[in-house]
This record gives sequence, structure tokens and C-alpha cells, in this order.
Amino acid sequence: MNDIFSSITLGDYQLSNRIFMAPLSRGRAVENGVPNAMMAEYYGQRASAGLIIAEATAVAKSGLGWMNAPGLYNDEQQAGWKDIAEVVHEKNGRIFVQLWHMGSIVHPDFIEGELPVSSSAVRQQGSLTTPKGRDREFAVPKALTRSQIGETVQQFVDAAKRAINAGLDGIEIHGANGFLVDQFIRDGINQREDEYGGSIDNRLRFMMEIVNAVCMEIGSGKVGIRLSPSNKVWGITDSNPQATFSRAVTLLNKFNLAYVHILEPKPETGHAMAASDYLTPVLRENYQGSLIINGGYNKKTANNALANNEAEAIAFGTPFIANPDLVERFQTDAALTQPDRTTFYTSEAKGYTDYAFMDGV
Ligand SMILES: Cc1cc2nc3c(=O)[nH]c(=O)nc-3n(C[C@H](O)[C@H](O)[C@H](O)COP(=O)(O)O)c2cc1C
Repeated sequence: MNDIFSSITLGDYQLSNRIFMAPLSRGRAVENGVPNAMMAEYYGQRASAGLIIAEATAVAKSGLGWMNAPGLYNDEQQAGWKDIAEVVHEKNGRIFVQLWHMGSIVHPDFIEGELPVSSSAVRQQGSLTTPKGRDREFAVPKALTRSQIGETVQQFVDAAKRAINAGLDGIEIHGANGFLVDQFIRDGINQREDEYGGSIDNRLRFMMEIVNAVCMEIGSGKVGIRLSPSNKVWGITDSNPQATFSRAVTLLNKFNLAYVHILEPKPETGHAMAASDYLTPVLRENYQGSLIINGGYNKKTANNALANNEAEAIAFGTPFIANPDLVERFQTDAALTQPDRTTFYTSEAKGYTDYAFMDGV
């Protein structure tokens, strides 16, 4: 029987365990989205993960609205990622990077006062810190034209190409958490009347075009995608998540991807969600490839999920923030360090690269 310590082949790679590091934005790329030495040290510290999925990384400046988040759309950023890939590979790790366009969540403060883009001119709820201050509310975005949709798909392709040229092992398309791809998928935002809106297949078209184009460019064994079928981040909703996301994974079957990654905590782990709204089992039935699941897992619940054949691997987010040697701690049943939430998005090494390893690791 497989447990979290058993190896697994996903896409082009044989991975040494099934304890994956979930993508975690940490806002340490302080110079124009260029990954720096501190980030290389941080990812290198976590190289014993079966797979690191590095943080959300912008495919274009127009899609970047998060303080000090990295990008992968110019040579300097690519060189920064190359250093990270080298450090992780020196320690026999594997690393994908999550490719991201934030759509309407990009505040105009980040883009010289221009309006951000989305599937439709629908404002999402919430606010973020921008270079002009805290709690800056989102704007009403502009709907992408069809030719701009094509240009955006190409931005994902270009960033994926850069990822491979930087020596990263692959990419994860960020289709989750209310960002641009999700703004097309869910009908609470997508009000389009062309072939990118209306029916479920139309709302999935943008995602499918990105997946297809990226797979053509770098090969499907280096491509994953993350979806969050039931969360309502930034107020995003869908009238029928089960139908929408079952169809999404059904359509994804044709690509032979490295994986589909589902962010959806289980209701029984204390999350305020009705058991009937928990869609991962339905998605498991509909998806023939490898599934990564994430959201509130610990060693025990992760092993149970694998024993129940709920997924091929488990991604851990916050546990990896405070435990660079999470794999070794699980192996020895060592206590876990609790993360300090006040340093999740600060810019220094404190709360980033200074979490202790167990003795002897
Ligand atoms: C500080 C922080 C940053 C995050 N950044 C990202 C991100 O860049 N991309 C993403 O898809 N999810 C992001 N998430 C969500 C995590 O990947 C993960 O889904 C979440 O923490 C739940 O998993 P956990 O219970 O193991 O922590 C972030 C979460 C936290 C706490």
C-alpha cells in the first residue's frame, strides 16, 4: 500500500515521496519580481519534498498585483529562477513553478492606473496592499477582447518556456482562488456572451486553450493545473460547482498531464462546509490521471487519504512554511513548529529562511 513516503511517477518525473510543497506566495522578490538569493535558500531548504510547487509567479506585468511577488516574463526573472532550480537540484529535489495571472485582482496601482482585465467587467470583493497603501479595493476590470485572450494564452506559453529554460522541472497553471483562469471558469464572474462565456464548456475554453498551448510547448509531462472548486475567495462563486469542475477534469483527461491539483479542505477537518459540497471524490471519479489534494492535511490524514485512494499525493502549505524538513519530521514523528502568520508576507529572512531544522538534518 502506498503511504506518503512511497515514491511516485508523475508526468516526466519519478519523485521520491508524496509529500509535496503547496504553492505559497511569500512576497520576498523585492526587486521587480526578480527571484533572489534568499528565495533560492528557502526553496533549497525544502528540497526533500517529493515536489516543490513554487509560489504563484506572474506571466506578465499586467497580471501581477501582489507586493513583491515574482514574475517569469523577462530575462532577469528567468535568471533568478535558474539559481533556484540549481539549488533545489543540487539537493536532489524537483521543482515546478505556479504560473499566474491575477486578472481583476490586480489593483490599478500596480499598472500605472490602468484598469485590470478579467473575463467580464465584474468587480471582485476585497482589497489588497499596493505600493500606495493597505486595503486598496479592487477596481471594475475591463473584459478581455478575443485577441487579448489569445495574447494572454501566449503569455502563459512564454512563461512556461522560460521556466524550462531556467532549468525548472515544470509548471503548474494557477486555475484556482479567484484569479484570471478562475474568473473565466465560474459564472459568478463570467458574464460573456461569446464563445468564452455561457455554457460550461465555453467558460472552460480559456483554461483549455492555456493547457493545450503550454503542453504543445513544453510537453504535458511537465504540466499540472490547480483548481479550487468550492472556495469563494474574493467573493467568486459558481451556480453549479459540481457540474463545472467535473466537466473541467473530464476535459483535462485528454492531455495526460503530470497532475491535477485540487485545493479543497475536507469538511470533517473542521472546515465550514457541508459534506455534500465537498467535490474532490466526484473529481476523482471523473479524472483518470494523477491527483494531488491539499487543504489542512497532517501526516495521519494524508496517509489515510492515500490508503483510501483519494489521490496520488498530498500537498502541504503552512506546514512547509515553518518546517523546512517536514518530510524528515514526518518520518521520525517529530513535533512540528507552528508558523508565525505575522511574517507570511514580510520581506525579510525572519519567518522565511530562519525556521530551524531538527537536530541532525
Ligand atoms: C502564505 C500563503 C501563501 C499562499 N500562496 C498561494 C499561492 O501562491 N498559490 C496558491 O495556489 N495557493 C496559495 N496559498 C494556498 C496554499 O497553497 C494552500 O492551499 C493552503 O495553505 C492550504 O494548505 P495547508 O492547509 O496545507 O496550509 C497560500 C497560502 C498561504 C498560507
